[in-house]
Amino acid sequence: MSLQIDLSVHLTPTCALPSPILIASGGLGFGDTLAGAVALEGAGAFITPTLTLSPRQGNHMPRTVEASAGLIHANGLPNPGLEASLVTDIPRLLSLPCPLIVSIHGENTEAWRTLAERLSAIRGVIALELNLTPTALHSDGFLRGDTPNEAETLQYIAASLQTVRAATRLPLIAKLPNVGAEIGVASRAAVSAGADAIAVSQAFPAVAMRLSGRRFRLPGVAGGLSGPAIKPLALYQVWRVAQSVSVPIIGMGGVMNGEDALEFVMAGATAVGVGIANLIHPNTSAQVLAEMRAWMARNGVAKIATLTGIANREG
Ligand SMILES: Cc1cc2nc3c(=O)[nH]c(=O)nc-3n(C[C@H](O)[C@H](O)[C@H](O)COP(=O)(O)O)c2cc1C
Repeated sequence: MSLQIDLSVHLTPTCALPSPILIASGGLGFGDTLAGAVALEGAGAFITPTLTLSPRQGNHMPRTVEASAGLIHANGLPNPGLEASLVTDIPRLLSLPCPLIVSIHGENTEAWRTLAERLSAIRGVIALELNLTPTALHSDGFLRGDTPNEAETLQYIAASLQTVRAATRLPLIAKLPNVGAEIGVASRAAVSAGADAIAVSQAFPAVAMRLSGRRFRLPGVAGGLSGPAIKPLALYQVWRVAQSVSVPIIGMGGVMNGEDALEFVMAGATAVGVGIANLIHPNTSAQVLAEMRAWMARNGVAKIATLTGIANREG
């Protein structure tokens, strides 16, 4: 008899996902170019690119540069803004055959509150992911000036979460920044302020050089590095967060196949995001899920949730 595989996971006791494999924020854009070409049946959730209250044009071109085993990107959060998105993107994304999580970023307190209030009125949005990388760090020229110190970073994380927590009953995922505070300390601040789950890793600050012209490649100098190059750093963060808090973790960073995803689960992740791999092939997340399932069948593991954090357990 073949093994019955149970891939379901819980973000909160009442928020169940059909599988642990999520489309990471930005991985498939706002889904407007998918046109039925991508198999999302079985995906745990589709996480939107980060939505802001006002429309954002994004940064100057070029916004992406290839790096060894990854991509450096400095998009600057281009998005149509909340109101336009409520009319176009969100209804379209709600028709996808998987749950929808909306990523938000408030450029100030009022923006965090409005985003949370408006989106919690939309039936079908199952959770909000707070992109907690400060606004200035998303914009062209980021990291030219001072980065926030630890106290400022923790204060920013706590204040943003408290504002959103007071405005919605939806589960809140805190996607932590990679600058300003040690990730374990940052995760504790987020959970104390109301986060139900933690997402790591965000892309890592990086630059790329152009020898001809003796310049940096990106107009804003720095961008965020994603892809296989960051997988060991991201696994470290998952492990650190698992040591620091007891809420579910969404792990991501360079997941290209089922074995990568299982590594994140064993390090402590309840769910796993697939970002840049979708740029190589938009059906990668379905492939990752199939490979995960096949590994579980081969190894006699019936329930994915039993593997979460298994490497951290004694014995
Ligand atoms: C093109 C691109 C766009 C992204 N856009 C967002 C975004 O809007 N909000 C966000 O929180 N993360 C964004 N990310 C970061 C990813 O969600 C993810 O945290 C990171 O890329 C690491 O995973 P990966 O190596 O699988 O891509 C983006 C990444 C890429 C490559």
